[in-house]
Amino acid sequence: MIRIRRFSPTDLGRVYDIECKSFKDPYHILFLLNLYELYPDTFLVAEMNGIVVGYVISRRVDTRGHILAIAVDPQYRMLGIGRLLMETVIEKLKSYGVLEVWLEVRVSNISAIEFYKKLGFKRSGYAPSYYSDGEDAIILKKYLY
Ligand SMILES: CC(C)(COP(=O)(O)OP(=O)(O)OC[C@H]1O[C@@H](n2cnc3c(N)ncnc32)[C@H](O)[C@@H]1OP(=O)(O)O)[C@@H](O)C(=O)NCCC(=O)NCCS
Repeated sequence: MIRIRRFSPTDLGRVYDIECKSFKDPYHILFLLNLYELYPDTFLVAEMNGIVVGYVISRRVDTRGHILAIAVDPQYRMLGIGRLLMETVIEKLKSYGVLEVWLEVRVSNISAIEFYKKLGFKRSGYAPSYYSDGEDAIILKKYLY
């Protein structure tokens, strides 16, 4: 049974653990807390049998939504949890008047690009040297209307 709910500071250790397992350049633990303070309504976690197994962080910029991060614990991938997190946060953004959602993804992150395409995101731009290690980003967008 998967439950999606708002992040709570007691989830921080578990979210940071998933962040570190998922990214080669993880966000600092205090930056994750900072994102919660800034965007408490659109920082969601997925819980399975009481254990946090994934999270999504997003923010609203006028009528646009920005996905800042999404990750699912490697042991729980390909079970539909990432889709449920994205669909839930997108519905929430939509309820705040968001008309389109965008995100950046590393050009090398083929699995995430496939995931986003399954969710209806389309390529809308390219950001050279977007990441601190110099890697380029692909910008993906999804219209909600
Ligand atoms: C990307 C990520 C969040 C996907 O989470 P997930 O829970 O495994 O995804 P889901 O099981 O909900 O999959 C949703 C759809 O995407 C597809 N998909 C997911 N991972 C895929 C992969 N590696 N290759 C191809 N398709 C994939 C699934 O087949 C599924 O398709 P369907 O709904 O049509 O059957 C997860 O792989 C992850 O945490 N990756 C590391 C962190 C990361 O790269 N985040 C994105 C940074 S921009």
